[in-house]
Amino acid sequence: MDKKTFYITTPIYYPSGNMHIGHTYTTVAADTMTRFKKLTGYDTYFLTGTDEHGQKIERKAAEAGVTPQQFVDKIVAETKELWKLMDIQYDDFIRTTDERHVKIVQKIFRQFYDQGDIYKSEYEGLYCAQCEAFWTPTQVKEDPKGGLGLCPDCGRPVEKAHEESYFFRMSKYQDWLIDYIETHPDFIQPQSRANEMLTNFLRPGLQDLCVSRTSFKWGVPVDFDDKHVVYVWIDALSNYITALGYGTDHDELFKKYWPADIHLVGKEIVRFHTIYWPIMLHALGLPLPKRVFGHGWLLFGNDKMSKSKGNVVYPGPIVERYGVDTLRYYLMREMPFGADGNYTNEALLTRVNADLANDLGNLVSRTVAMIEKYFGGVVPAPETVDETTDAPLLERFAHMPELVEKSMDDLQFSVALSEIWKLVGDCNRYIDLTQPWVLGRSEEGKPRLATVMYNLAECVRAIAVAVGPVMPSTPERIFAQLGVTDPELKTWESIKAFGGLKVGTVVKKGEALFPRFDVAKELAALEGDKAEKDDKAAKKADKAEKKAEKKAEKAEIKDEKKADDEENAGLITIDDFAKVKLLTAKVIACERVPKSDKLLKETLEVGGSTRTVVSGIANYYTPEEMVGKTVVLVSNLAPRKMRGILSEGMLLCAEDSEGKLKLVTIEGGDFASGMEIG
Ligand code: ME8
Ligand code: MG
Repeated sequence: MDKKTFYITTPIYYPSGNMHIGHTYTTVAADTMTRFKKLTGYDTYFLTGTDEHGQKIERKAAEAGVTPQQFVDKIVAETKELWKLMDIQYDDFIRTTDERHVKIVQKIFRQFYDQGDIYKSEYEGLYCAQCEAFWTPTQVKEDPKGGLGLCPDCGRPVEKAHEESYFFRMSKYQDWLIDYIETHPDFIQPQSRANEMLTNFLRPGLQDLCVSRTSFKWGVPVDFDDKHVVYVWIDALSNYITALGYGTDHDELFKKYWPADIHLVGKEIVRFHTIYWPIMLHALGLPLPKRVFGHGWLLFGNDKMSKSKGNVVYPGPIVERYGVDTLRYYLMREMPFGADGNYTNEALLTRVNADLANDLGNLVSRTVAMIEKYFGGVVPAPETVDETTDAPLLERFAHMPELVEKSMDDLQFSVALSEIWKLVGDCNRYIDLTQPWVLGRSEEGKPRLATVMYNLAECVRAIAVAVGPVMPSTPERIFAQLGVTDPELKTWESIKAFGGLKVGTVVKKGEALFPRFDVAKELAALEGDKAEKDDKAAKKADKAEKKAEKKAEKAEIKDEKKADDEENAGLITIDDFAKVKLLTAKVIACERVPKSDKLLKETLEVGGSTRTVVSGIANYYTPEEMVGKTVVLVSNLAPRKMRGILSEGMLLCAEDSEGKLKLVTIEGGDFASGMEIG
């Protein structure tokens, strides 16, 4: 019998800057889902890619002094590297600059024109250049500065735009789509987003959609009117079928996998996927995707993390320090899929310490260690049963797979993980209840102890299988300790019935699965506190990251070509330097920061006021030596908490080749504090 197919997609991302943890979130979710479907017997196909055309890319490439193609090629290469790092196993990576895509987009556009769905007219509307979206006057938010309005997605001012354009007659399909959405309650998820689409967009009446542009060139040319390029959504959305060979002689994949089972998208593009895309497909006579799931946003300080805002977190340094599976686990566990959530390193560390190091890691190491200690490392045959303690554990085991399946089918990754962790928790409680260390003291305890050990080991096996889709390399690490080698015992089927683990299996204790992190120390390190950093490699990665971030931010700011060029030469302008405010300051008190080897807390007198600064110089100066010195303070550095103390600036130091620090001081006795240096 042929396997059931499962086709899942991510949005194709704009390569206008490097992908951050927000894109990683969607991609990890799609990968997790694919792995889960594969594990549960489906023939899966996972598509991701990049959406490479448009004015914004054209502009960015010009700013960077390269062609648009060179610009996107570089980012695409880095994106692929990132997906490799994140253990993403996509089946195909479509680029809208691929010839296979361009050709079919042209064909689709022509078909729409020929059948009267597309017509030529003049466009005038409110346009957000950032989002490349047109809005109606009722959709834009009021501009407090009295402008035309603010983009409802990104909040930037919209501008009036008009030009000759082709339009898609969306209005023609409106009633059909309303009916479709109302009769297919599973099509748009979460359900609330379906209501939003109906109320805000469909029922008030659909505007015809502008589908071509003459104002820029970087796009798919309309092949019967070469002044025009196809404008964003027809180009972008059709990737989901062009990648499968739709419209070509080699459309086997299309025949096999279309319609898609799930389009995973962020909530800001649900509208395009549930209004324009269904209408386009319907106009092509094709069936609609089964589900469009609009997930929530990762926020950073309560703001949507986004390339254009520059408030982003990149996965690289996190993976380097904590591992891929850890980050994947956190992303899938922390927030319900569908809701927004703040990303913080602190939440990540707290969660992985609790769930991975404590709960799962300890369970595995305790189980293996006890089998080694009491049974010479050989999994014993169960003997004495105790209904009151055994039955609830076996009950939990029996229900776990179906509960996980159900949550996964609803894309509730966090719920699925919490179902698995209920079994983890029950196992840890089972150890507390059965007290193996007491049973192990006497020969009479042994038959009962054998059952306890077998039950634990079998549960650990099931847990290892179940975490695989989220944490791809964790199962094998657990199997290695548990001595499980038979592929049959690593399948989803095999955990549906208790007792698969073979008596006589030889376990082998290995290193801790997940180390425990010192949260304060890690935070200091991640936040770039050089004084607290001892990991040189991490230091380097962090630096590179900061540099990349700075560059990305820079690229955002228009008309800074000059500054960019100078920066590329390693130089800064006088304006850059003037931003740094250096002042003389007198140390009037100083003490060690409790529980830190490296930090001193100085109280400074700066032109009549006092300030607190924390510096990583305790290895080079005693508090007593510090008092009375006149030092150089970077006075306009954003304040930052270190070890709970708000540090309001930084003291300039010189660093020698061995990393030893020496303060920059003003010699010559009584120099007043608060004097500007520069
Ligand atoms: O919209 N939180 O590309 P894009 C969660 N090219 N997810 C996030 C996120 C965040 N802070 N930031 C980005 C486009 N994402 C179009 C799509 S599809 C035919 C065309 C994820 O680079 C999320 O999936 O702006 C979001 O929808 C997508 O990246 C937007 O990526
Ligand atoms: Mg976006």
